[in-house]
Amino acid sequence: MHQIQLMIRRCDDADLNLIWTIIDDGAQAYKEVIPADCWTKPYMSQQKLHHEIADGVVFWGYEEAGTLLGVMGLQQVQDVTLIRHAYVQTRYQKRGIGAHLLSHLRELAKSPVLVGTWSDAVWAIRFYRRHGFQVVDAQEKNRLLRQYWTVPERQIETSVVLADAKWRELTERDSPQR
Ligand SMILES: CC(C)(COP(=O)(O)OP(=O)(O)OC[C@H]1O[C@@H](n2cnc3c(N)ncnc32)[C@H](O)[C@@H]1OP(=O)(O)O)[C@@H](O)C(=O)NCCC(=O)NCCS
Repeated sequence: MHQIQLMIRRCDDADLNLIWTIIDDGAQAYKEVIPADCWTKPYMSQQKLHHEIADGVVFWGYEEAGTLLGVMGLQQVQDVTLIRHAYVQTRYQKRGIGAHLLSHLRELAKSPVLVGTWSDAVWAIRFYRRHGFQVVDAQEKNRLLRQYWTVPERQIETSVVLADAKWRELTERDSPQR
């Protein structure tokens, strides 16, 4: 039987346009869901994508039969690892591609993992929770977004942060009275 080649690979400069296209396609899920003043077309400019990569976001892609179907970025910032810009092409969502990418990136992470998403992206919050992440409280979210991300105040206001078990263990150990 013919076998379809599946793989997760690190993206490089030659993939930039594809990454941008996948982000724009996947981000259609936000349309009319996130606050209107946070929605832009395209969702991310090419310039912003270049800037994110220059800032240390390393994209990994899920490829099936030579076609990139989803991307997810990993960024080491100070003492944590951030999952950034997770997008699967709309018509390939809910097939387990996000789960494959997430587990691959978590294996590569050398420090506690945090991820931020829009508070209104309930599906994304459910996805990360199903993979063991937990939403941190609002005060902690504001602190973390200011410390580890470079995002506008409006985005801080309208986002949530989820943390993995390793991060929670460290925080609880450092402040046991919490
Ligand atoms: C969030 C996102 C990256 C997840 O990727 P994905 O490939 O759709 O993720 P999965 O298929 O692994 O899981 C998604 C859901 O599909 C379900 N699913 C997985 N395989 C499935 C299958 N074969 N049949 C039906 N459902 C399936 C999973 O149970 C999961 O449900 P849950 O979210 O309730 O846990 C993707 O949906 C996406 O790009 N969304 C729009 C943009 C976005 O929200 N990005 C997050 C930014 S941080």
